[in-house]
Amino acid sequence: MTNQPETVKFAITTPLYYVNAAPHIGSAYTTMVADVVARFHRLRGHSVLMITGTDEHGQKIQRSAEKQGIAPQQHCDAIAASFDALWQKLNVQYDRFSRTTASKHHAIVKEFFARVQDNGDIYLAQQQGWYCVSCEEFKEERELLEGGYCPIHTNQKVEWRDEDNYFFRLSQYQEKLEQLYAENPDFIQPESRRNEVLSFVKRGLQDFSISRINVEWGFPIPHDPNHTIYVWFDALLGYVTALLDPEDAPTLENALKTYWPIDIHLIGKDILRFHAVYWPAMLMSAGISLPGKVFGHGFLTKNGRKMGKTLGNTIDPIALIDRYGADAVRYYFLKEIEFGQDGDFNETRFINTLNADLANDLGNLLNRSLGMTKKYCQSQVPEVRISDFPNNHPLKSMGTDLSDRVIEGYESLNFSRVCEEIFNLIRACNKYIDEQAPWSLYKQKQQDEVERVLYAVLESIRLCAYLLSPIIPNLCSDIYQQLGFELDFNNRTLINQPELFFKHSCWGVLAGGQTLNQPHPIFNKLELRDLDSNP
Ligand code: MSP
Repeated sequence: MTNQPETVKFAITTPLYYVNAAPHIGSAYTTMVADVVARFHRLRGHSVLMITGTDEHGQKIQRSAEKQGIAPQQHCDAIAASFDALWQKLNVQYDRFSRTTASKHHAIVKEFFARVQDNGDIYLAQQQGWYCVSCEEFKEERELLEGGYCPIHTNQKVEWRDEDNYFFRLSQYQEKLEQLYAENPDFIQPESRRNEVLSFVKRGLQDFSISRINVEWGFPIPHDPNHTIYVWFDALLGYVTALLDPEDAPTLENALKTYWPIDIHLIGKDILRFHAVYWPAMLMSAGISLPGKVFGHGFLTKNGRKMGKTLGNTIDPIALIDRYGADAVRYYFLKEIEFGQDGDFNETRFINTLNADLANDLGNLLNRSLGMTKKYCQSQVPEVRISDFPNNHPLKSMGTDLSDRVIEGYESLNFSRVCEEIFNLIRACNKYIDEQAPWSLYKQKQQDEVERVLYAVLESIRLCAYLLSPIIPNLCSDIYQQLGFELDFNNRTLINQPELFFKHSCWGVLAGGQTLNQPHPIFNKLELRDLDSNP
């Protein structure tokens, strides 16, 4: 028997995006964040599965295709491809792209439906109410805006429905759900969203309809093909289908064997009820264990209003990436928007943040440090003894426990904190160089001192780059390569080793004598150009 520690498994999902229109920066936001979390776990050597995909059924999609006069599948294929193209541009390393029109998904939905039906949780009854096609959700009359508009899609009128539907007995799960939330206080995050859900459930749960008539674009209800399965019932199961390995037969047993339960469902706050109430109840009914956590983040707004495909006030992520690069976009959204809160996009702030942090604080620091090492140490990492640095050395002391604080930040999905902790060390390096003035030490022929100063700075930059790599992988690979490493943070196999994390997340790793590469700027200063105007 070997004593190998078991590999930690970690699975994370983004929502499966509606394919009613091409993606915008709001849809890209969750995916960027999920990619950062997945990359962080890969960096630690965990076995990671990141799931994203598209939600392709339902009336909303049927209508989008009709408007263009093309077949729904053709429409879905085109938009699903545009999501994928965006993920490539944003440097998102997903493991699975789940499409709800896939035939294997149909098999999973049928099997799941049968389990819930066998459990006595499905029945036929009359459904009356106001329906928002953009939300694909019934609304209570008191939620509606004046004139019968949806509170989320404020330019869309709700539609009256009166039809026979199949229902899911959500009301049977009230107590079990309350018990779930009480026993797992972290199941819904952040706290404010948890409270919203608790009070919603406390008001009493009503059964919800899980079929539609007059919507052709969906899977038929087994044994009653006049109905199609409600898009949300189908879509949530897309997370399960995504778990199948390509060679697996599409059964629940196969899907659930390795990465279930999913650790984190990352979603926006508008779809919290589906994930934190309906989804666990559906799983309970089917006798399947529950995911670890549902995190509902805020909205990206433009001039205070939710950006959305339906509202048509979006920012095109492709234009943003083409202008500024994937790392710039990733850094801004991760650092500047407190994860969980709404955040307004403002291009001036975007440019100022990137220039201050990436071009000035980090970029100039690297450049000047490499320049001095070239001049004073022939581009070799100075040979020093780590033990010669006292524990209260300004950079060593910050660097020594930086990774603990950063790990805590990533684990609690507090990315602003991650950036802040790392940039504190970066700024401390700049201050330290100014105070120590290695150029004067060199003139005074204090070569040992010059070497100690430069080593401490280079090593701190290395550590910062390592810990920032899930957020800005291209820039960090560039920094590592300038420091003489061959590591590429986009190579997921290479970086996915626990021993590597163990070593590189500590302060004092740079090897004396390592040859540094020719310095070049990692990030050019940006100038403000109005995104709404033509480039
Ligand atoms: N298809 C459903 C999800 C099914 S999951 C099994 C859906 N799709 S969506 O395309 O409308 O929205 C997907 C996600 O994008 C949601 O989490 C939503 O909150 C998020 N966002 C859409 N607009 C957004 C912003 N303006 N800001 C931040 N996130 C936003 O709902």
